[in-house]
Amino acid sequence: MTVEGTTPNGATALGAAVPQEAAFAQEVPRGEPILEVRDLVKHFPLTEGVLFRRQVGAVKAVDGVSFQLEKGETLGIVGESGCGKSTLAKVLMNLEQATGGSVRYKGEEISRLSGSALKAVRRNIQMVFQDPYTSLNPRMTVGDIIGEPFEIHPEVAPKGDRRRAVQDLLDVVGLNPEYINRYPHQFSGGQRQRIGIARGLALKPEVIICDEPVSALDVSVQAQVINLLEQLQGEFDLSYMFIAHDLSIVRHISDRVGVMYLGKLVEIGSDLEIYDHATHPYTQALLSAVPVPDPAARESRDRIVLTGDVPSPANPPSGCRFRTRCWKARDRCAEEVPLLASPSWLRGAAFHASACHFAAERETGQGAAEREGTA
Ligand SMILES: Nc1ncnc2c1ncn2[C@@H]1O[C@H](COP(=O)(O)OP(=O)(O)OP(=O)(O)O)[C@@H](O)[C@H]1O
Ligand code: SF4
Ligand SMILES: [Mg+2]
Repeated sequence: MTVEGTTPNGATALGAAVPQEAAFAQEVPRGEPILEVRDLVKHFPLTEGVLFRRQVGAVKAVDGVSFQLEKGETLGIVGESGCGKSTLAKVLMNLEQATGGSVRYKGEEISRLSGSALKAVRRNIQMVFQDPYTSLNPRMTVGDIIGEPFEIHPEVAPKGDRRRAVQDLLDVVGLNPEYINRYPHQFSGGQRQRIGIARGLALKPEVIICDEPVSALDVSVQAQVINLLEQLQGEFDLSYMFIAHDLSIVRHISDRVGVMYLGKLVEIGSDLEIYDHATHPYTQALLSAVPVPDPAARESRDRIVLTGDVPSPANPPSGCRFRTRCWKARDRCAEEVPLLASPSWLRGAAFHASACHFAAERETGQGAAEREGTA
């Protein structure tokens, strides 16, 4: 697919009618896609009334998201609480039905599958959840928890082989296979997340969606779990979507990073493009909040403090959704939805998809505020 046309702000795009296509088009030549997501929408209806419930609005949790996940890569997804990360993951897993858009797994549309076709696809896309304390049933042994997926897919491990298969999985995630009869409360937080990962691996999936897999863990344990995920990726040729609140956690593990704000992807690019050449003000603000160990570097950088609350996803701002908190906002930002596209005049690492009308301007908050007279 080629990138054609130029939008008024000089951004390359396939056409204004399909705004997120631009980012999608850019990603096509990179590698072999395993998941292709286009214009994905998930709205939760808001209803009123007791006897006669009627819809009065919708929470636009995911509102036109496009990207692709390539075979063997890790795509990090970051954004503040409530921006739609978990909803995106659930729609990709078919745990929530998409309101619109498309999800293709190896070229096959999976967003509207049901029955045995859905079951077959689910085997290949698994999830690891955030909280290892609540995502494991306290009344089940570790053996039963990890072996549970085999009940739905007995073809992966026939009954006689299951105990051995579970012990192999315990070994693979660095736990003693002898622990098979223990209960979740007998493990530490990091060990419990290893159990969650073993369960995710049981059906030999190709894609694992990790929804904040280390957010509930101590910092020292976070690194161990991330290292384990990296090691397993090489061993089993896995593709990961790795969801997190903050950019510092995903940096180590991600090949590319997508930044979400209020149901939309606002910037997506490689490690270098996002961390050293971010062009979207929201990404710049998130980056400015990442702790820097070097005191000299810490002193010299500009901290961008975002003011105001995240608006309600039931009633997002017109135009750019970030405009109510953006120090660069101008009149145009309220009128025109910015495309997730690449300004054609940007070169090198700055040339990547960013949903900002003024993506070419990379000033810090202070500089821009002074220029705009809004400080
Ligand atoms: N089942 C539901 N019904 C109605 N609204 C929902 C439902 N699930 C999520 N939402 C809303 O959708 C929005 C996105 O929620 P989501 O859980 O996807 O955010 P998140 O980015 O994962 O947040 P966090 O970082 O806190 O986990 C929120 O406003 C949330 O309240
Ligand atoms: S489009 Fe406008 S409001 Fe949105 S991020 Fe860019 S400058 Fe800020
Ligand atoms: Mg979440």
